[in-house]
Amino acid sequence: MRTPIIAGNWKLNKNRAEAQVLAQAIVAETQSVKDVEVVLCPVYTALETVATVIRNSNIKLGAQDMFWEASGAFTGEVSSDLLKDVGCQYVIIGHSERRQYFFETNETVNKKVKAALTAGLTPIVCVGETLPEREAGQVEAVVGNHVKNGLAGLSSEEIRKIVVAYEPVWAIGTGKTATPEQAQDVHQYIRKLLLELAGEEVGNSVRIQYGGSVKPDNVKELMAKPDIDGALVGGASLKPDSFVSLVKFNS
Ligand code: PGA
Repeated sequence: MRTPIIAGNWKLNKNRAEAQVLAQAIVAETQSVKDVEVVLCPVYTALETVATVIRNSNIKLGAQDMFWEASGAFTGEVSSDLLKDVGCQYVIIGHSERRQYFFETNETVNKKVKAALTAGLTPIVCVGETLPEREAGQVEAVVGNHVKNGLAGLSSEEIRKIVVAYEPVWAIGTGKTATPEQAQDVHQYIRKLLLELAGEEVGNSVRIQYGGSVKPDNVKELMAKPDIDGALVGGASLKPDSFVSLVKFNS
């Protein structure tokens, strides 16, 4: 009942020419895929290039971050309206790298999520614990905090429009994936929170992606879990072959 969503987070990689080649290869190889939503999130400077490549395909465009104000004296920032203007439908918010290196907090995540929804963008809201937090038995406390504060003040109808990405920080870019059971445990907890926040129908309709070293050889067992509805992919999204096989996890 939830359409799987596979998103490539290209992070700080690929200039326009490289982004064009990668997007073209992905478009060519995924034309037959109808039952999976596919999102590409290049750097800001390659958004327009990728938008042009995917124009007549099923693939959607996302950005990796945004600011919550619409315009004004905010040097270096990009707004939701500008992302819409270039063709984005999605925006990643609160990625752990932004929390870690760029002072993102649950409060800024919350402001960005609200601004994205107001503009009609779908926020992919990232949550997840670090290794010390996991080892200290704080997974639910940390993830609960990210979810409740990141989504504070949203109506059920707004929550319906979001995607959540559970990304344990210790699994990102490390080659160390959470086991399907570890991931499902946290996804199930997030589902419970969503049900509490937004009620049964909406809580069951929100997609929860897993992220953290998702690769062609582990995607199938992750996706087999009942509350894992997709993947947010870094490293394996940078090569057409690996990303396409993730998109085709079902075939
Ligand atoms: P990874 O990154 O797939 O390289 O672990 C995932 C992410 O940070 O979104």
